Amino acid sequence: MKSIRKAVFPVAGMGTRFLPATKANPKEMLPVVDKPLIQYAAEEAVDAGVDTLIFVTGRNKRSIEDHFDKAYELERELEIKQKTKMLEMVRRILPSHVDCVFIRQSEALGLGHAVLCAKHIVGDEPFAVLLADDLIASHDRTCLSQMVDVYNYQHCSVLGSMEVPDSELSAYGVVGGKEVSAGLMEISEMVEKPAPGEAPSNVAVVGRYILTPRIFSILETTGRGAGGEIQLTDGISRLLSEQRVLAYNFEGKRFDCGSKLGYLEAQVELALQHEEVGEDFRAYLKSLDI
Ligand code: G1P
Repeated sequence: MKSIRKAVFPVAGMGTRFLPATKANPKEMLPVVDKPLIQYAAEEAVDAGVDTLIFVTGRNKRSIEDHFDKAYELERELEIKQKTKMLEMVRRILPSHVDCVFIRQSEALGLGHAVLCAKHIVGDEPFAVLLADDLIASHDRTCLSQMVDVYNYQHCSVLGSMEVPDSELSAYGVVGGKEVSAGLMEISEMVEKPAPGEAPSNVAVVGRYILTPRIFSILETTGRGAGGEIQLTDGISRLLSEQRVLAYNFEGKRFDCGSKLGYLEAQVELALQHEEVGEDFRAYLKSLDI
């Protein structure tokens, strides 16, 4: 069985929900405390054993490439000023055994299309997909590491999932099926952004996927779905008729950093846990008369 070595990061979206902040900057570069969203996702993938990061980019995304590239001038400057700690931080954005590949998605045709753009780099292997605006904080093992454990045991596609209230279901891909063990559901149907009353359950898929390469040939013939886009959900829905797909209710807290409120919640909670500013920030919050 092949292990999960490659991860795809679809980062070509316009980030319209964060305008004007995202007019010239990609939403994936918005920082939470001191790291951009994309770095949290990249670190999660590397922690789960991934050694090839495949970014599917679009217009205005140069800064993502720059972020993961060597920053000669900055490093030289920090060296001269003997700012060793900062220098180490800048050099260690990613470990040296990790490769980055950038693919341009020329037309923003949807998440399914973005994943399909990575086909020739992923090849015939199972792979992960991470949506950077879903930031997942966990206590022990990261979300993707937990999913890799499930994959290694079950040998099939695994989707990260969580329960959401009825009122929020229409913002997600929602799955239905039967529980095979605690926190693990064998999916029998999947619907993208269901209309009220049409969701098969309260189990929503968040931005973490482990998929078998069969998904690529399916996506090649998947037409436009919800919102006029080629949806990954529609591809997975067709995959279900051929292969087992599991939804795994991971341990951890997911922040929807694609929304203003979710992003602010992530800032507050991660700042409270931050080594350098956590304590002072807690004191500051307590001092607020709210
Ligand atoms: C995407 C997926 C959806 C998933 C969601 C998780 O939607 O299409 O199935 O539930 O991410 O964040 P988006 O939020 O990009 O509209």
